[in-house]
Amino acid sequence: MSRFWNEKTRNIEPYVAGEQPKPGQKIIKLNTNENPYPASPKVREVLSEVEIGSLARYPETSSLVVRNELAKVLDVTPEQVFCGNGSDEVLAFSFQAFFESGESAAPLLVPDISYSFYPVYAELYSIPLRKIPLKDDFSIDVDAFCEGNGGGVAFANPNAPTSLLMDLSDVEKILSSNPDHVVLVDEAYAAFSGVTARTLLPKYKNLLVTGTLSKSHSLAGLRLGFAVGDPELIEGLTRIRDSFNSYPVDAIAQKVAAVAISENDWVMENVRKICSTRDRIAEELRARGWVVPESKTNFLFAKPSGLTAEAIYTNLRGKGILVRYFNKPRISEYLRITIGTDEEMDALLKAVDEIAGGN
Ligand SMILES: Cc1ncc(COP(=O)(O)O)c(C=O)c1O
Repeated sequence: MSRFWNEKTRNIEPYVAGEQPKPGQKIIKLNTNENPYPASPKVREVLSEVEIGSLARYPETSSLVVRNELAKVLDVTPEQVFCGNGSDEVLAFSFQAFFESGESAAPLLVPDISYSFYPVYAELYSIPLRKIPLKDDFSIDVDAFCEGNGGGVAFANPNAPTSLLMDLSDVEKILSSNPDHVVLVDEAYAAFSGVTARTLLPKYKNLLVTGTLSKSHSLAGLRLGFAVGDPELIEGLTRIRDSFNSYPVDAIAQKVAAVAISENDWVMENVRKICSTRDRIAEELRARGWVVPESKTNFLFAKPSGLTAEAIYTNLRGKGILVRYFNKPRISEYLRITIGTDEEMDALLKAVDEIAGGN
């Protein structure tokens, strides 16, 4: 605490990211939902060809090369695409562009258990928030989002950390019940579910879908996120971007991202491998008495048997395996385990068995 901090800085409760290993530390990292496989060799090639002279110039502001490639694979026009420095930034811009701030504003509706950056952005931008409890099975309470008394809606689909997918018919119900406000569908994990709300874009001008290259495209370190929606929503995001930072996506990131997006077969093959490992490990854990809901993401939301989630987390950490533990109401008995390579996941199972056996 410093006496120079203003009220906002004093009161904000910042997002806490998953633990990052120290340089050189050898661990199995299953705590931040990264992709265990590298991006394609073509991505390496373009990276090695970056000309130092080109970095003397500012990058193109709108990430046009990236938007063009995204438009092709997402089946939209470049005017429907916005790019930012990770989808975290795109979410932050969206909150500022579309949801009203101030005590008298209608609240933004979010699930009580979802991506923990939503409440942080709401607080940072003084947007009133109404947290709608998930049902007992951790599914989103669709009807509560359809009461039409909010100032906008934001949720992840599939949701995190629960790993559960909401049917598109339910997403559509929420869209049609909130026609005067933006419904933000955060699809950070959509590649692993094969389901996207983008198909609803022609019907709903209030739909904004966000996505990222951090998970499916093996580029969490590059920081490239995007939003897809009606060109008027994209223009709103651009107004906010240009009031904050005209160049959020650097020149190297633009080049690399464009190639990574065009390498769709490579991406989908990695997604397929991850989903197959995911389903195998879910079965293995269930066979050990764990409760593991059906994941449509690149992670498992899993309740251990025998020991508490916290004890398993601590013991795994001692063995050099990082998973995510949230000491929060309703989910403190669960772990969020990112799907790594088959070898990494076999090491996890072995460690779980050792811990269960008291070792
Ligand atoms: C639901 C959800 N949305 C957004 C993000 C942020 O992704 P990015 O790396 O694009 O900022 C994450 C990252 O874990 C996430 O879980």
